[in-house]
Amino acid sequence: MCGPGYCAMSSTASTPNQLPTPPSGYFYAGPKSSFTNEITPIETPLSKRFSIVNRRNKLSAVVNICPHQGAPLHTGSCVDIEDFGIVWGSAIVCTRHGWNFDLETGACGSTRFVIDVFDVKVDAQENVFVSLEPKNKDTQGPRRDFGGKESEI
Ligand code: FES
Repeated sequence: MCGPGYCAMSSTASTPNQLPTPPSGYFYAGPKSSFTNEITPIETPLSKRFSIVNRRNKLSAVVNICPHQGAPLHTGSCVDIEDFGIVWGSAIVCTRHGWNFDLETGACGSTRFVIDVFDVKVDAQENVFVSLEPKNKDTQGPRRDFGGKESEI
């Protein structure tokens, strides 16, 4: 599903003259009502693909490419991260081989790989803005984006 900001899998803005002005360092992703699905793919103005995750009404943004073999993460699912029944986070799970990535840190639960995670702001009008720079850029660990293209194999 595409919001009125930047459409999933298309870089064309549907109503460019009416887009809300993002804070510095952010882009407009769409109205919050566009992100009611658990995972929604979007494409940024710089053609970088993201997944917007709505987990219990909390929005997160991650790069849409699994660092294992490049599968699109938006085709996956989400799970709780918990210890002894206490939920302390959420992860996005790649549908291809099950690698999972913490939505806050980008850390993989089973390997040293990391995915970029981005800050999300929602203003009083429920406009959603996503940071252009990863909020976990200092986190150590190998990253791969396969040239910015998901692998469908
Ligand atoms: S491609 Fe994502 S776990 Fe293998």
